[in-house]
Amino acid sequence: MCGIMGFAGGGEAAPVILDGLKRLEYRGYDSAGIAVYDGGRFCVVKRKGRLSVLEGELQKAPVPGSIGIGHTRWATHGEPSDANSHPHLGSMSRIAIAHNGIVENYKALREYLAGKGVAFSSDTDSEVVAQLAEHYYSGNLLETVAKVINAIEGSFALEFMCLDEPDKIIAVKKYNPLIVGIASGATYVASDVPAILRHTRQVVYLADREIAVLTRDGAAFYNMDLEPIQKRPETISWSMDSAEKGGYEHFMYKEIMEQPRVIEDTLKSAMPGGSNEPVLDALDALRFDRIKIVACGSAYNAGSVGRYAFESLCRIPTEADLASEFRYRDALIDENTLVILVSQSGETADTIAATLEAKAKGAKTLAIVNVVGSTIAKEADYTIYTMAGPEIAVATTKAFSAQLILLYMLAIRLAHRLGRIGREEAGAMVAEIGTLPGHVRGIFGEVEKIQHYAATCFNSKSIFFIGRNIDYAIAMEGSLKLKEISYIHSEAYAGGELKHGTISLIEDNTLVVAISCCDRLAPKTESNVEQVISRGAKVLYITSGGIAFGSDKVFTLREPRVGELFAPSLSVVLLQLFSYYVAANKGCDIDKPRNLAKSVTVE
Ligand code: M6R
Repeated sequence: MCGIMGFAGGGEAAPVILDGLKRLEYRGYDSAGIAVYDGGRFCVVKRKGRLSVLEGELQKAPVPGSIGIGHTRWATHGEPSDANSHPHLGSMSRIAIAHNGIVENYKALREYLAGKGVAFSSDTDSEVVAQLAEHYYSGNLLETVAKVINAIEGSFALEFMCLDEPDKIIAVKKYNPLIVGIASGATYVASDVPAILRHTRQVVYLADREIAVLTRDGAAFYNMDLEPIQKRPETISWSMDSAEKGGYEHFMYKEIMEQPRVIEDTLKSAMPGGSNEPVLDALDALRFDRIKIVACGSAYNAGSVGRYAFESLCRIPTEADLASEFRYRDALIDENTLVILVSQSGETADTIAATLEAKAKGAKTLAIVNVVGSTIAKEADYTIYTMAGPEIAVATTKAFSAQLILLYMLAIRLAHRLGRIGREEAGAMVAEIGTLPGHVRGIFGEVEKIQHYAATCFNSKSIFFIGRNIDYAIAMEGSLKLKEISYIHSEAYAGGELKHGTISLIEDNTLVVAISCCDRLAPKTESNVEQVISRGAKVLYITSGGIAFGSDKVFTLREPRVGELFAPSLSVVLLQLFSYYVAANKGCDIDKPRNLAKSVTVE
């Protein structure tokens, strides 16, 4: 995911573009750049790092000009660097472009253009768009854009400028969002409404394969046959604040809602033709007899779920380990161990140290990371990426769900390679993972029920989470989510452990959240529920089974039935929503909980 912004108007373009990009930074923040037309040439400034780095550059050396485009990047092809930042110019510096999306056939196009003598200056898929446009250009930018769009496959929101037609920006989209803002004496193009809201509330939403031509005097719209089409501006009534979160009150909620798409994209990335497939293929050649999954916080919880998948499907001894412990324990690992490092940010200090420790001991290292080009992604021998896009809320939700998908896919592949499951069984499991996005959408239909129940719990002093085996692993994530955003003390226990001490903490109306989605263990968890009810607890019972407790102390949330290994992907959504509403009822700062940071880069 990236953010793009363009401005054609009377005043200085750079400050307007920069301000718009700031409001799009949630879409990507590993590098940023702008291209402004200034009397016969493009002034291009691009910098790796947060937008503030670009801002600093522009303060030192302002770029004059009243028309230009900008981009804030979330790397997919090519690591974050100055050269890979957008906008990209064609090799004759005649055409400038900024792109959000993925050009799926970029390799073929790159080879074709290289064969024509075109020299590329970045590792991105996007640069082919600029080079192709220059290659096709013969005096009409609109026709060139249509030709480029017909040649590229994949998804895009694109903006183009050309030195020979310096008064216009041309914008077009397919699958990625793009809006055009219209004001008196200026037009704007952006990935999202907040980027332009301080300038205009008159917005045209582009549909796929519609083309907009923007000048300071207005915008004209065309279909792919270059016939003019009428587009009516809509008036936006949102406040600035709500607009940046897509209308939701918090990024965390927005990110919870994005999970069906994230699961789909991450699954696709691990399938034939997907972006993670080459690394997964390379992993097939590795030989090891033990697996360690090493991570911190929620990523460790994802690893704990993954452990069950590896052990149950592959029958390989697997442990989940906290990076902060692993790094100092002189762990028993060697060249026959596969160490899987899991991290959203790729910058967690303990997980980086664990990666280096594992490598020093000769283990094979595989990173599952969300941020392209991050330290862990670079240090590990192999890296596969979750397709969560930028996660802004400190409490992880969508990145966690994406981590589960890659762990499942790794376990299925390995089990098949080891002959533990046949091709058909593996295919059936992948097909079942494919049903998860639909089930998550179904769970969103339960939001009101969860909200109402959460409203009865926000005064709790302590909340316990229980489950057995893989349900216990996901109970740990439920407990972490609740405590980090609601500040309510919480612990997760393996259901069978309760009687060894913790049950003494149960008092009248203590809330116990019980997760029971493993059929084979359901009777055991039901007994635990009975035990805590008889000591006065009230219970939130999350189950995919049929049991109904005859007690008004139990509130049941049903989740769709899937194989027990994949049930955590559904349980976690219910748990996230529960935590969210408890914290919302308490009036907590949900996106930025006290004392926490999104990326923990210190010990
Ligand atoms: O970036 P990472 O995944 O390595 O971060 C690990 C933990 O710091 C992180 O999961 C933390 O526990 C989250 N706040 C949980 O929501």
